[in-house]
Amino acid sequence: MSAIKEKKIKRFSFIIAAAGLGERMGGSPKQFRNLGEKPLWQWSLSVTEELLEEKKINEVIVVVPGFAVERVKKEVAKITRFPLCYVVIAGGTTRTESVKKALKSAHEEFVLIHDAARPFLSVKLCERIMDTVSSEHGVIPVLPVTDALKKIERLEKNIMVSSVSRDKMYRTQTPQAFPRAILLEMLKDNVSYKDEAEVWVKSKCLLETVEGDSLNMKMTYPDDFKIAEILVERKKEYRTGHGFDIHPLVPSRILILGGVPIDSPLGLDGYSDGDVLTHTVMDALLGAAGLPDIGRIFPANDPIYKDAYSFELLQEVLALLQKENWKIEWIDVTLQAQVPHLAPYIDVIIQKLESAFAQIQEQKNIIHIKIKSGEHIGPVGRAECMMCSAVATLSRNGRLH
Ligand code: CTP
Ligand code: MG
Repeated sequence: MSAIKEKKIKRFSFIIAAAGLGERMGGSPKQFRNLGEKPLWQWSLSVTEELLEEKKINEVIVVVPGFAVERVKKEVAKITRFPLCYVVIAGGTTRTESVKKALKSAHEEFVLIHDAARPFLSVKLCERIMDTVSSEHGVIPVLPVTDALKKIERLEKNIMVSSVSRDKMYRTQTPQAFPRAILLEMLKDNVSYKDEAEVWVKSKCLLETVEGDSLNMKMTYPDDFKIAEILVERKKEYRTGHGFDIHPLVPSRILILGGVPIDSPLGLDGYSDGDVLTHTVMDALLGAAGLPDIGRIFPANDPIYKDAYSFELLQEVLALLQKENWKIEWIDVTLQAQVPHLAPYIDVIIQKLESAFAQIQEQKNIIHIKIKSGEHIGPVGRAECMMCSAVATLSRNGRLH
């Protein structure tokens, strides 16, 4: 028999509990409130994506209020590279009920149960927990209590304050990990618990602890959001890209600029619709994102792009930016054209382009367009072509870990 004992691979389902009401936060449920550029619940997905990529987890169950199931399904589909690995289900009226439903939907031997209210989860913390859990042991991440503790009791007019030793006192975080079937069995009565560790120890099962992570804070009160916003803002990444394009002006072609047909005896020649302005904007955006340029994404020798409406290609480029969490901060475009007179079209073009940007972000008024004539010199001035250049600045939330 081999002396080396074969290590059994543990298989995990990852549960994101996001079905609460956020009563202590006030307002609409906190998990749908934006932190930086995305709703709170979406922050945990950067970690689940990485764990799925590395095959450390096999499925993710997102538990949300019933009214949000369809919306969250669509949003998950937009974000994930592993659409088949996500299930979105409706939760219950208590956290325990929500988790119980998710445990029933899950398939794997072990579960990691995480609060969507903790956006700054790290892969490292998950790994510590996953390495420690076993068929006998549940695992929770903990941190020592550092403040002095007081017990305060209000008895009619009197307030009684007594000191409580913080010795052996720890704050508990999520994710918490357990063997799934055992935990589900423990939750079969309809008792509500603060977390799964509570029922686990009540059932006299063994619980291990690993070191938690101070950044893995929970959003409970409005001030927690304020602190989280400061952390996110400090980690914001900005990038600027440049775009340039040129197309010949010829008779018998429709002139299209920024997706808008323009009344003109001359149009721009090209394999696609020749929309020099949209091409330039796309290249500036792709350049800022560090993605391949339009020539590589939409090759001119591919018949699919013959006479393509470039505005639709812009929508594809925007979807790529969205996948990488980029948001457009600003685009500045200079179009060089001798004819036709384009000033009356600028606002229409801006509106058209803004309608595409609105598909990926709420912020409006993010593009500026200037037209320069060719002063009757050079190929632009002789109305042989139009040239366009643009700069685009993108931003995204950096990872805290
Ligand atoms: N949760 C859940 N289902 C519930 C209640 C809570 O999935 N019925 C989730 C929350 O969405 C949150 C996590 O459990 O991500 C931790 O709970 P908590 O911070 O208490 O969130 P809420 O219950 O939403 O907030 P509150 O207690 O202030 O109402
Ligand atoms: Mg709660």
